[in-house]
Amino acid sequence: MASPLRVAIAGLGTVGGGVANLLSTNAALIASRTSGRGVELVAIADQRPHDDLKQEFGPSLGNSQYFADAVDMARSGCADVVVETIGGYGIALQVGEEALRSGASLVTANKALLAVHGENLAVMAEGTGTSIGWEAAVGGGIPCIKVLREGLAGNNVRYAAGILNGTCNFILTTMKETGRDFDDVLAEAQSLGYAETPPDLDVDGIDTAHKISLVAAVATGCKPAFDSVHVEGIRAISGADVSLADKLGFSIKLLGIVSTESDGTVKQRVHPALIPVTAALGATNGVLNGLFSVGDFVGPVFSQGPGAGRDATASACVADILDIARGNHVPTFGMPFGDLDTMVTSGMESREGRYFVRCASGEEGGVRNALQDSSVEVEISAELDGSVGFITGSVAENIIMSTIGDRASMIRVEGPW
Ligand code: HSE
Repeated sequence: MASPLRVAIAGLGTVGGGVANLLSTNAALIASRTSGRGVELVAIADQRPHDDLKQEFGPSLGNSQYFADAVDMARSGCADVVVETIGGYGIALQVGEEALRSGASLVTANKALLAVHGENLAVMAEGTGTSIGWEAAVGGGIPCIKVLREGLAGNNVRYAAGILNGTCNFILTTMKETGRDFDDVLAEAQSLGYAETPPDLDVDGIDTAHKISLVAAVATGCKPAFDSVHVEGIRAISGADVSLADKLGFSIKLLGIVSTESDGTVKQRVHPALIPVTAALGATNGVLNGLFSVGDFVGPVFSQGPGAGRDATASACVADILDIARGNHVPTFGMPFGDLDTMVTSGMESREGRYFVRCASGEEGGVRNALQDSSVEVEISAELDGSVGFITGSVAENIIMSTIGDRASMIRVEGPW
């Protein structure tokens, strides 16, 4: 029987500590699911003193060797798999590169690292015949990358939309349920440990952009193209938007969306969107994440679960570790890197869809006239507390923008799916 898979964890923070705990708590189950091979934690790296870690994590650390320097640990060749849970792409990148160079596989929850440096790392992994497991980087504990990359491997996926940031979803859900304001709810999300540091990465949409660029690579068979993601966050969403959308039967969500258009171009975008409360994504609330994908043979597929948090994220990391222990090797983005196309993208001006338009009640007549003059249908409207909201029929984005000018604000409506 093969000897146990040797695992090293770089960074014993929330996620790294969760991985150590899960490996220890479910060791017997993990041994069974790797045909008796098992997984052994052989090394840990953290800036905190070893004694502090032993006190915090106790028996979960087993007989692992301690390194104060994560790069030294990755370089040492002590492990078959290095789990990088440091975050960012400073030291984390060095850890990833040294791990792959040493012949170890890499497991990471680090979406920023892969979105920005995924190409280099994927090529390195192919060169050394190792794997990069990154299930935890998108959707936290949901096995949504496996769904897309493995489960839908026989499909063309021309549309995928996800709620991929638990912090934003928590904020928008809580604003809707309680009427509290944005800053107040953000502070609570931070205290619950959901938010990135700084939270701008969450609320300005960058975290979701990292994630959707990775989903896009797998869905389209193109190299990750993070720089071409259109990104808008949720700071401008007001209580009036949330309440009016609710009255009209919609939830406001921060979505990451990738679509292949009829001309073959790819749109990658992150922005708030109204979606029907009855849609699976519309009912994905709180810290939950969800990914909705449409395969040309299977049709719509939806995965939902906890998008952040220690145990959920550890669950996804450990699934990747088990894949490696079992010898399941899948190319980083679903096909050999050299076979991935270069993404040809298109911008938001050519988006066609429905829009939620909101104005002060006193502007209603003028906005209705302008919409009519531009032949934009109004499907439904509602009034609440001095504001009016309209849901338009499908129209090109450049037309809606020039029609409403600065008399009204707009949020895109996504679907129907
Ligand atoms: N800050 C992220 C979120 C953590 O809120 O979803 C998980 O990637």
